[in-house]
Amino acid sequence: MAESKTKAKTDALKARLGALKGLGELFLGPRDVVAVDVGSYAVKVALLKQEGPFLQLKAWGHLPIGAKAEASPDERRAAVVNSLRAFLIEKGVKVREAATSLSGNAVIVRYVKFPRLTRTELQATLATEAEPFIPFDINEVQLGFHILSEIVEEGQKKMETVLVAAKKDLVSARLDVLQGAGFTPAIVDVDSFALENVHEKIRDPKEGPGATLYLNIGHMVTNLSIIENGVTRVVRDVFISGQTMTKAIAKAFQCEPAKADELKKIFGVIVDPAEKEKALADGNREALGVSQAIGQVARDLVGEVHRSVDFYLSQGPDRAIGRIVLSGGSARTKNLDKHLAGELKVPVSVLDPFSFVRGAETVPEELRSSFGVAVGLALRRNRDWE
Ligand SMILES: Nc1ncnc2c1ncn2[C@@H]1O[C@H](COP(=O)(O)OP(=O)(O)OP(=O)(O)O)[C@@H](O)[C@H]1O
Ligand SMILES: [Mg+2]
Repeated sequence: MAESKTKAKTDALKARLGALKGLGELFLGPRDVVAVDVGSYAVKVALLKQEGPFLQLKAWGHLPIGAKAEASPDERRAAVVNSLRAFLIEKGVKVREAATSLSGNAVIVRYVKFPRLTRTELQATLATEAEPFIPFDINEVQLGFHILSEIVEEGQKKMETVLVAAKKDLVSARLDVLQGAGFTPAIVDVDSFALENVHEKIRDPKEGPGATLYLNIGHMVTNLSIIENGVTRVVRDVFISGQTMTKAIAKAFQCEPAKADELKKIFGVIVDPAEKEKALADGNREALGVSQAIGQVARDLVGEVHRSVDFYLSQGPDRAIGRIVLSGGSARTKNLDKHLAGELKVPVSVLDPFSFVRGAETVPEELRSSFGVAVGLALRRNRDWE
C-alpha cells in the first residue's frame, strides 16, 4: 500500500516534468482529467471534454474551504478532502485522474541560459546546473525544465530554458490531498503556466502589439506573469492579494476578517470622482474606508507590477506591455480593473476563462474569474493529448 502510494507520487512528479509545454508525450493514460486548483480560499474543480470542435464543461465546483483562520494544516487538509469527495459523489464524476498546480512558496520558476546540451545531457546534470539558480536546498526540490530556444550569445551556443523547482514536501502534501479524495494525480503544474493555456484560447489574433501581463489575484498570493507571443517570459508570485485587502479593511474598521471580507465584496474601490463626492457628502464611512484600504493594497501591488515590467523591458529591445488581464477571485473587486488601468496606463480586463467553453452558463458571473487556473489545467491535458 505504502509502496504503491510512493509509486503514484513518483509518477505524478515525473508527469510534472512533462507538464511543461511540449513534453506531452510523457503522459500515458486515460484522456480525461479533472482539474483541481486547491487555493487557500476555495478549491476550484473543472472537467472539460472535447466534443467535436467544441470544449464542453462536464462538471465544475467552487468549494469554499471555510476553515477558520486558526485551523491547523491537518484540519484544512481534511476539509478539502471531504469537500472534494462530496463533490465527486454529488456530481457523479467518474474520472479519477487529476491535474493540479502550485504557486507561492511551493515552487520557483527561473529563466536560465545554459551552454547548449541535449535534453538527455541536461536531464543528467540538471541538479548541478540548476543549483546556483535555486534558492532552496537542491535535495529538497523536484526539478523540471523546458527548453525555450537555442541562441548564440557572445559566439557561444546557448539555450534558453525555464527551470521549475517544486518543494518536495509541498508537492507531497498536495498529492496526499488528491489521493485522500480518491484521485490519481496525473499532472502537477504551475499556476501561471496553466493560465498561459487559457491565454492561447482567448487571444485575439488582431490584438495590438505588446505582451500580456496576467495578475491572478487569489487569496494568499498573486501570480504575476508576462506572456509574449504565446510564451510566458516572466513568472513571479507576490504575497499581496485578497487576504491583504481583507486584513487592511479589518484593521481600518477593527472588525473580524469575515466582516471585512464581506465589506470588501460590497464596496470595492471608488474610482469615479462623483461617486467619491457622494460618499463624502453622505458620510458613507464604510464605502470610503474600504476604498482607501483597498487603494493602499493596490498601490503595493502596482509597485510590484512596475518592478516586473521594468525587469521584462530590460531583457530585450522593442518590448512593451500591451494589456493586463486580471483573474482570480479578487479580480472581481469592484472597480479594481479601472483603478489599475488608471495607475498603470494600460488597458485592464477581467478574465472569463469560460468564454470559449460550452455549457458553462451555470457558472455564476461572480465566480468565473477564479476559474482561470482550473480551466487552464483542464486545457493542458486536452492540448497535450492532441
Ligand atoms: N466580489 C468580490 N470582490 C472582492 N474580492 C472577492 C470577491 N469574490 C471573491 N473575492 C476574494 O477572492 C479571493 C479568493 O480568490 P481565489 O479563489 O482566486 O483564491 P484562492 O485560489 O483560493 O487563493 P490562493 O491561490 O491565493 O491560495 C478571496 O480573498 C475573496 O475574498
Ligand atoms: Mg489560487
